[in-house]
Order: sequence, then structure tokens, then C-alpha cells
Amino acid sequence: MKKYVICGGKPLYGTVEISGAKNAAVGIIPAALLVDGLCRIENLPQISDVTLMLNILQELGAQVRTINHSTVEVNASAIYNHPVSYESGRKIRASYYLMGALLGRFGQAEVPLPGGCDFGGRPIDQHIKGLTALGAKVEVKNGFMCATTGGARLKGAPIYLDVTSVGATMNLMLAATLAEGMTVIENAAKEPHIVDLANFLNSMGADIAGAGTDVIKVRGVERLGGGEYSIIPDQIEAGTYMAAVAATGGKIRVNNIIPKHMECITAKLEEMGVQVEEDGDSLIITREGALQRTNIKTMPYPGFPTDMQPQIAAALCLAQGTSVLTEGVWDNRYRYTEEFRRLGARIQVDGKIAIIEGVEKLTGAPMEACDLRAGAAMMIAGLAAQGVSEITNIRHIERGYEDIIGKLTGLGADIQVVEVPDPEQQVGAVG
Ligand code: EPU
Repeated sequence: MKKYVICGGKPLYGTVEISGAKNAAVGIIPAALLVDGLCRIENLPQISDVTLMLNILQELGAQVRTINHSTVEVNASAIYNHPVSYESGRKIRASYYLMGALLGRFGQAEVPLPGGCDFGGRPIDQHIKGLTALGAKVEVKNGFMCATTGGARLKGAPIYLDVTSVGATMNLMLAATLAEGMTVIENAAKEPHIVDLANFLNSMGADIAGAGTDVIKVRGVERLGGGEYSIIPDQIEAGTYMAAVAATGGKIRVNNIIPKHMECITAKLEEMGVQVEEDGDSLIITREGALQRTNIKTMPYPGFPTDMQPQIAAALCLAQGTSVLTEGVWDNRYRYTEEFRRLGARIQVDGKIAIIEGVEKLTGAPMEACDLRAGAAMMIAGLAAQGVSEITNIRHIERGYEDIIGKLTGLGADIQVVEVPDPEQQVGAVG
């Protein structure tokens, strides 16, 4: 086990390169199961969620060849259909995409109920509703989602999503790609990774229109052939470094981003007194003066992303005045605030609202990461705090940020990775 030891209170300066988008990658890798041929995927982030998903493909019989640190070739032509193993599938939220992909390919799928970050209830009723509309019988048995069409091809259908769900939209696009006829997904999510999945599938021969709007039309095709595809840059990874410099002060250049995807984050940082300058596919972020308060409500894209809420909260802890956060997507995404209070932050949470009264300084303290973005936010808080902070449970952070230590130390951060004994391995441990 490892922990991060951060000596904070220093501004960040330098350049950071953004990796491929996690939430696109974990949809595009399962999509390769639909491809009959060799499929080369570039700009994959080196994170544990991607490694897990590639391992699952191999367990299903796909050939996966690593070309370099961000490129793999997948050949799923000869895969066979069997249940996704509980050990692998339960560790990753995005394992539900294997459902749409395997069902589309074989008319049958068995996938463990998904794991991932804990934000209160994470229902999958919209996935089930959509797959059922496409002709599958779906049931939950012994911790697995089991779906079958009895071997027949799925049949295109109109599907209205009751809630705007990223996962359900992507899963239904995967299932509908090889279905017979037209599927129309209404009230679809519009996140950049949805467009990326559609672009990937179309480049392999699918017929998907409307991704990025709230109506997506998938005309089923007989087969997908191979090809090459490069994943979009990670909007949330970029936003995390932007929030970090907002909190610490300094000036950084964030390379390899799509500025349009960053607008919802940039707009709020500017309200907080941070300068954001666009330069091609880079942004230059400067924070010199005092940070100003603001109010933020998280919403589906193009609203302010829920996956940036904890990181921006870290910066707002040091803003002048009182900020109000409203979490519009998840029921319980404020668990990190208890840890922030240990640094001297003043935050009150009431249901989906958090009120942050800015303080002059935070002081370092031990914190325990409770999920991926909360962990990243604790790193930001630690970097902005005076003195030493320690963050444990960092496996959450490694799920979604490629080389976060290398990238932050490249910006001048003082972070050490320290081995700590695993409590479960200690002789005589009780409890
Ligand atoms: N919802 C339902 N029923 C469903 C599906 C969703 O009621 O069948 C509700 C959820 O409870 C939630 C809302 O709809 O209130 C949105 O959930 P969504 O399905 O969009 O979330 P997700 O697909 O499970 C993805 C990302 C999350 C990100 C959300 C929202 C992946 C693997 N995960 O989750 O990312 O927070 O979209 O943008 O793409 C992260 O990267 O840190 C992360 C948690």
C-alpha cells in the first residue's frame, strides 16, 4: 500500500500534458468487442480502470497487443461468450458497457453488477429499460446482470430515458449498433465521451447520428470492420490541474485539450478571478490575486460537471466570501468535506447543498481518499494548505489519473509516495 505525502503552500508553475479521457476509454474498449477485425486504439490513459477493462477483454478471448504506453491493438474476431468474471467485473463501474456490447454481439450476456465510486444509490434501471426495449430479457441473478434474446439479433426501438444517464446512453448505443433496424434514444446524455464513442463506432462502420444532442439515432448494421481511433483528451483531468492552480496560485500551461470541452469549467474559474487564456489546443491558467467566491450547480453536459465538484470545492475553501455548491447529479457526493474540515475548511452540507465559507489558509492534515475525484480534490487541498498533508487509500486516485505524481511534481509540487504496511497483512492485526 502507498500514501501520498504532500508538502503544501507552494504555487504551481510549468506545463502539463493531458492524457486520453478515462470515461471515453472505458466505453470504447468494450466497443472493440463489436468489431470483427483488428482495431487500434490510441491515446488510452495509463490508469488502472483501463488495465482492468483490457484484462476483461482478454479473459473473454480477445487478443490485446500493447503497441506503446498509450496504444493497444484489439482483435475480438474470435471471442467466445461466457460470463464476465465476478473478480474483474465488480471492480469497475463501467463493466456495465460489457452488457450492451456482448448482448449486441451474441444476443446474450452475463456481467457482475458494477462497482466504482460510492455516491449513494447508483441505479441501472435505465440500462435495463433500454435493453428490454431492444428485445432482451434482463434479470439480476446471484449478483450478475443476465440478459438474453434467446440468440436472436436485438431489434431497434425508440427509447426514452427517464433520467439523462451517460452510462445508459453509451450502453444503448453499443447494444443498438448491430441491432436490426433503427434505435432512437431520446433524452440522451451529451457528454464529450458520448460523441467520442459514436465517432469510434462510426469509424469502424456503424451508422450513428445525433451524438452530442439529446436525440441519438442508431441504424443497425450487419458488422463492424477494423480501423484506428484516437481517444479525446480528458476534460476532467485537465479541469483538475486548472482547479489545482486556482487553489495554489501560479501559472500553468495545460496541453492537449479541446477548449470547447473546457468552457463549462473555464467560465467558473474566470468568475473566481482566475485568468484562462486559450492557445490552440492548450490553455494557460494564471492565478495571481485573491480568489473570489461563486455559486455552482452541477448538471449534465454542457453544465458544470459533477466530476469537477470536489476539486473546485478545494479551491473555493480559500476564496473570499461564501460559495454555494448544489450537486445536481448524485445524491451523496460530499463525503470528502469531512476530510477538508480537518484542514480548517469551513463547509456545511445539507443534502445536495454545500456552503463553503472561504478561509485565509488551510493547514496540512491526514486525509483518506473516499473516491476518485474526492481523492484528487484532497491532493489539491493538500497542495494549497500550509505544511504537510498525507493522503491514504490512493488506489481510488490511480483508477483515473495517469501519472498524477509525475505531472504535479513537474509543476513544482512537493509530493512523496511512501510505502505503508497493509493493515490486513500485519501479523496480530485485530478488529
Ligand atoms: N441514473 C438512474 N438510473 C440509471 C442510470 C443513472 O437513475 O439507470 C441516475 C444516477 O443515479 C445519477 C444520474 O442518473 O443520479 C446520472 O448517472 P449516469 O448514469 O450519468 O452516471 P454513470 O454513467 O454511472 C458516468 C461517469 C461518472 C460521472 C457520471 C455523470 C463513467 C464510467 N462514469 O457515470 O464518472 O459522475 O457519468 O457525469 O463514465 C468519475 O469519472 O469520477 C465518475 C464518477
